[in-house]
Amino acid sequence: MKPIEWLGDKIRVIDQTRLPHEEVFLELNDHREVAEAIKELRIRGAPDIGVAAAYGLALGAQTIETDSKDEFLAELRPVSETLSSSRPTAVNLFWALERMNRVAQSGEEVSQIKADLIAEAQRIEAENDEANRRLSQFGAELIQDGSTILTHCNTGALATAGYGTALGVIKMATEQGKRVKVYATETRPLLQGARLTTWELLKENIPVILITDSMAGYFMNKGEIDCVIVGADRIAANGDVANKIGTYTLAVLAMENAVPFYVAAPISSIDFSLSSGVDIPIEERSPDEVTCIQGVRVAPEGVRAANPAFDVTPHNYVSAIITEKGVIREPYVERLKVT
Ligand code: MRU
Repeated sequence: MKPIEWLGDKIRVIDQTRLPHEEVFLELNDHREVAEAIKELRIRGAPDIGVAAAYGLALGAQTIETDSKDEFLAELRPVSETLSSSRPTAVNLFWALERMNRVAQSGEEVSQIKADLIAEAQRIEAENDEANRRLSQFGAELIQDGSTILTHCNTGALATAGYGTALGVIKMATEQGKRVKVYATETRPLLQGARLTTWELLKENIPVILITDSMAGYFMNKGEIDCVIVGADRIAANGDVANKIGTYTLAVLAMENAVPFYVAAPISSIDFSLSSGVDIPIEERSPDEVTCIQGVRVAPEGVRAANPAFDVTPHNYVSAIITEKGVIREPYVERLKVT
């Protein structure tokens, strides 16, 4: 299953809001449709957002009608801005757009730049998959045969347009013949764990038990969890990790219960411009996502609700960050720098 596919003049994506009940594919023809799909979480997960944005910029570039490079770059700017304003936290979005804009600037002929942008988006997709596989191999070395692993949100093929990060580590461990069992948190409010992680793991025949977010402490305290592995939307230079809301709670519980807490993410998720996690922008989404579950209202009309989509886990709770360059441990400030 390919969550994103380049079709020559458009992209085809699986609509993640319709899973697991329906496997609906959408064809997106221009950058506006891509930005909208990211905003609405039809396309989601940090690396997946990055790959989609790269294709979105390539699509937007094809519609610019000029032979002048200066005019072309001027018209490409709003295309890039539309995509970059789709979601604020996952740094892969900005990383991919920056890479694409560099390609646009370094080219000469507009027609060549347009072709180069498509090639660059395809390279971003391929390199991302390669990074996923390599980090999954490093991460799998941390997994013992017979382990029970707790994961949060969704970090598999759907979230990465590739092999997966935290879920990639789990998949790789099973491909190596290790028997693992997964506890997947449902991940309120949008249920990426209940809807997507369980769907992916069932397809892979990896044993999975779905739990509500609030059950994590119970199972850790009972000694049933050997490690926690999550992904990341943005990692600051000091190792602080922004990830799906509830990740920080899991990290604190893991430390309290002496359970290793691992973060699996490609280097493209590290934002070296931020010295710590306090400066990571946290997306605040509509309160309706909290007052309703899958469109069904569960809270009284008129109640106020908060909906931060991510939280930041301070680096001292992170046992290791698993990247395609290897497994990195404290002191993160020095060791992330050399990746
Ligand atoms: O709001 P989402 O579903 O895009 O959030 C996704 C996550 O928080 C993932 O854990 C993160 O992007 C890593 S995906 C490999």
